[in-house]
Amino acid sequence: MSTQQLSRRTFTTALLSAPALLSGKLSTSEARVKIDTDRVIGQIDPKIYGNFTEHLGRCIEGGIFEENSPLSDSAGYRKDVLQAVKDLHVTVLRWPGGNFSSNYNWRDGIGPRDQRPARLEMAWGTVEDNRFGTHEFLRYCEMINAEPYVCANLGTGSWNEAQQWVEYCNSSAKTASTELRRKNGRDQPWKVKYWGLGNEMDGPWQMGHRTAEDYGKFALEAAKLMKWTDSSIKLVAAGSSNFGPNADWIGWNRTVLDYLKHHADYLSLHMYVGNPKNDTPAFLASSLTLNERIKIAEGIIRGAMSDVPNRKMYIAWDEWNVWYRARGEGKEKGRDILEEHYNLEDALIVATFLNTFINNAQIIKIANLAQLVNVIAPIFTNDHGLFLQTIYYPLQLVASNSFGNALELFIEGPTYETQSNAAVPYLDVSAAHDQGTLVLNVVNRNLTEPVQATFELEDKQFTGTFQVSEVNGPDVKATNDFRSSPVKTVTKSVEASGTRLRYSFPPHSFTMLKGKLA
Ligand code: AHR
Repeated sequence: MSTQQLSRRTFTTALLSAPALLSGKLSTSEARVKIDTDRVIGQIDPKIYGNFTEHLGRCIEGGIFEENSPLSDSAGYRKDVLQAVKDLHVTVLRWPGGNFSSNYNWRDGIGPRDQRPARLEMAWGTVEDNRFGTHEFLRYCEMINAEPYVCANLGTGSWNEAQQWVEYCNSSAKTASTELRRKNGRDQPWKVKYWGLGNEMDGPWQMGHRTAEDYGKFALEAAKLMKWTDSSIKLVAAGSSNFGPNADWIGWNRTVLDYLKHHADYLSLHMYVGNPKNDTPAFLASSLTLNERIKIAEGIIRGAMSDVPNRKMYIAWDEWNVWYRARGEGKEKGRDILEEHYNLEDALIVATFLNTFINNAQIIKIANLAQLVNVIAPIFTNDHGLFLQTIYYPLQLVASNSFGNALELFIEGPTYETQSNAAVPYLDVSAAHDQGTLVLNVVNRNLTEPVQATFELEDKQFTGTFQVSEVNGPDVKATNDFRSSPVKTVTKSVEASGTRLRYSFPPHSFTMLKGKLA
């Protein structure tokens, strides 16, 4: 049987007893979703709608910042990009990398712009002119109303550099560092709360790569100094995202947490996915792997924290996206790099990843799409303007609407089989309930058939108009560009009352339903 055909198998979650699951009443194109607003997975942290700007390709220079462009303001920020970023509702912005951060000296990026040194940049094979630095980044966060999240250099950098960066940004004391900040035009500290203890330090590609033991020891000393400088900061430990067959990501995370469990507040994990074999049904199942990795990481964290009763540690999934076309031999150096051109199936992946973060709201408290502009990004610019990539739309919808409690759902419905998954549900669903407003985020992975779902409310009633926002396009390979946007959000409304809402989800679609419960 083809993976695209509806299977007779049904997918169920574990909330009901077995006999109730096997109702046998559903046809192969129907699903049932039971919703009980008391069944709360966890509070959705708005910081799961974060993003990431690295000194890489045209993400910062040529993306958010382009001096001397007629599209920029007098400080160099692209105004058209700024508006698109504001409309995306980015809650937390990570910077300066990524791999770039592992050889970044923050002192190069402060002071009068024309006097800043240019340096060879080894992560991405360019020259870094340092015209965008700490002040420019933190000003940008203020402009878009996002929390800054600064990744310290724990590759080639020192404990002292990391500590003094926190002091420069956060201290009100009168010191050489803070006087320098004042001289550079910033009197009040910014109070940057989120700090990364390096990036992907397990990877041999990383400048200053270390073993888990060496990283754990090094990061612990940095963490102590950083928290002693400002005890209110939150620290993100570099977990392993090296999921290859010979990579010991579980072992790395265990070791690192043993060192950092008294100081770090989050474990950083990354995941990029792609469809190089053009097997779209298998590709669309990628979020099942993400879910599995989250569960494993959560277990590792629980194990590590079991003898530290007074502290909590969460996951910061601080790089994630589709990334496979613009990578590989000879393509990762220079200026116009990592410029993925996204299609509808990529947008569906983004929606399923967001669903997965919401469905793990108890442990995922930060997530950052990588990256914001041009580089594997939802916003794409040239000298004359920008267009919104397909992946912009689901991100914008979920980030603007899904707040409050993530609800645990009972889902019964059709599934399909792939090489690595026996039962991939066609419908991928998350639900957010916030002060009487219910938001349902639904991806239909079926490429050819609609799936008719019945939502059954256990403890409340649907009431009035439900807003329906659908991201879809003529086919899964449809892309947007500067001329046209066949993939975008289309809205309509449906009336709902009583305890049941039926809705038919079109093939290859992401749909958000939003309305009030009584
Ligand atoms: O986002 C692109 C790169 O992917 C980042 O610099 C690095 O952390 C990851 O490997």
